[in-house]
Amino acid sequence: MRKKIVVGNWKMNNTIAESVQLAQDVLAQLGEGFSGCEVGLSPTFLALQAVGTVIEGSSVQLVAQNCHYENDGAFTGEISVRMIKATGCSYVIIGHSERRQYFGETNSTVNLKVKKALNDGLKVIMCVGETLEEREAGVTGALVSSQVREGLDGIDDISSLVIAYEPVWAIGTGKTASAAQAEEVHDLIRTVVVKLYGEAVASELRIQYGGSVKPSNAAELFAMPNIDGGLIGGASLNAADFAAIVKAASEC
Ligand code: PGA
Repeated sequence: MRKKIVVGNWKMNNTIAESVQLAQDVLAQLGEGFSGCEVGLSPTFLALQAVGTVIEGSSVQLVAQNCHYENDGAFTGEISVRMIKATGCSYVIIGHSERRQYFGETNSTVNLKVKKALNDGLKVIMCVGETLEEREAGVTGALVSSQVREGLDGIDDISSLVIAYEPVWAIGTGKTASAAQAEEVHDLIRTVVVKLYGEAVASELRIQYGGSVKPSNAAELFAMPNIDGGLIGGASLNAADFAAIVKAASEC
């Protein structure tokens, strides 16, 4: 039985003080009622340490939004896995579509980052998903399959990896994939993973959905057999909405 996982991706929002306040509000809203679901918060790098202090002692986990694949050195503006781990993070999001779209990330840089994070003991949320043009061109399946295959190239153990399916056309647009549309791609991703790693590993893999998840659509999405939680952007900036989504996942 896969435990659902819901992560709030705060993206480039909130100062350190605002992040601390939001984390406190999220904890207050969550109360005790989320044992059925793993929960993570992903503030900006600047606020990781401070948010880590707020959530210390709770079961909420700290998640970074990106990492570099080298240990250290002349990579101005980058943050290494070692540095991220030292803040108390347990997960890192890799290959978010905004990183692919605006910062030139490719399947091969995603692969380098995934390898580095997993090798160094940081769990990974690896994002995949198609644009509207790709969906309309009928290449969603082929594209997502190659993102999964190339992202995981050379990686033997995916027990500390989660895949997030995030159709780019549904991110921050208010357009959600229908539960059936999302389930179809989640099922396809699991089939790709069966081919790569076998049935047993694939049946343990958690596949999150991301793209305009809200309290009003969360339960329907999370009820689908291959949807194992959510990566939440906009709605995670509101503590009550995020807590409602976590509750929906806990009750599925
Ligand atoms: P959204 O973002 O919930 O605002 O659509 C999701 C994401 O990008 O992780």
